[in-house]
Amino acid sequence: MVLHLLNVEKHYAVSDQRVPALNGVSLDLGGGEWLAVVGRSGCGKTTLLNLAGAADLPTSGHVEIEGVRTSSLDDDALTELRRRRIGFVFQFLQLLPTLSAVENVELPLQLAGARRPRGRAVDMLEMVGIAALADRHPHQLSGGEMQRVAIARALVHGPGLLLADEPTGSLDDEAAASVIGLLRDLRERLGTSILMATHSPEAAAAADRRLTLRDGRLAADAPSADTPSAGGPE
Ligand SMILES: Nc1ncnc2c1ncn2[C@@H]1O[C@H](COP(=O)(O)OP(=O)(O)OP(=O)(O)O)[C@@H](O)[C@H]1O
Ligand SMILES: [Mg+2]
Repeated sequence: MVLHLLNVEKHYAVSDQRVPALNGVSLDLGGGEWLAVVGRSGCGKTTLLNLAGAADLPTSGHVEIEGVRTSSLDDDALTELRRRRIGFVFQFLQLLPTLSAVENVELPLQLAGARRPRGRAVDMLEMVGIAALADRHPHQLSGGEMQRVAIARALVHGPGLLLADEPTGSLDDEAAASVIGLLRDLRERLGTSILMATHSPEAAAAADRRLTLRDGRLAADAPSADTPSAGGPE
């Protein structure tokens, strides 16, 4: 199991108020599996991805990544786990504006002390189909192209788990379809498990399974248009 969540609760504190974001979420994600989490704005999708990526710890319950419980690790070990095993495509991309596309992709390799980071970053840009744009800066790229750079950066170090937060959120239909096709292709080639948050029915339909979050709780699987036998055994 790549990811195992059991009765996860996450409450944020804002001044003297407690904001409940997740209220007892359990889920499993197997090797190579693609799971979509849907639900309206504020239901807890990004919170869930942050916990699944060891970027934050649950208030209670367990998060296990490849069998390791995140709450058992200190800050250094959490950082190490994120750098080695997790790829994160952020809701708002977070490409560094002063770096070129290839430099952005190279960064996680440099942080991990990898050898030949430039060559591997170029290979990854090749894989996402924009090697020709390697030397451009983010402001010189379209939204769809930036999304590809973000995906390349998230996968360049060969993580077991890709967390993608609204990977098609800011794209038109055509660019969105192309990014979804890219994720499908990369999952196939690299065997990476994907946990994706999305508002897009088309993106959700591309996943193997769909879960709906409502006020921090999981509801039943949302059936998709192209899955006539929704509700079958899991
Ligand atoms: N750092 C934080 N401090 C306090 N409250 C937060 C924090 N982050 C999120 N929240 C609150 O937790 C709840 C869940 O937020 P989250 O960002 O997970 O939602 P989301 O499903 O990703 O929404 P969207 O679709 O708009 O991205 C919301 O009520 C939000 O206001
Ligand atoms: Mg969000």
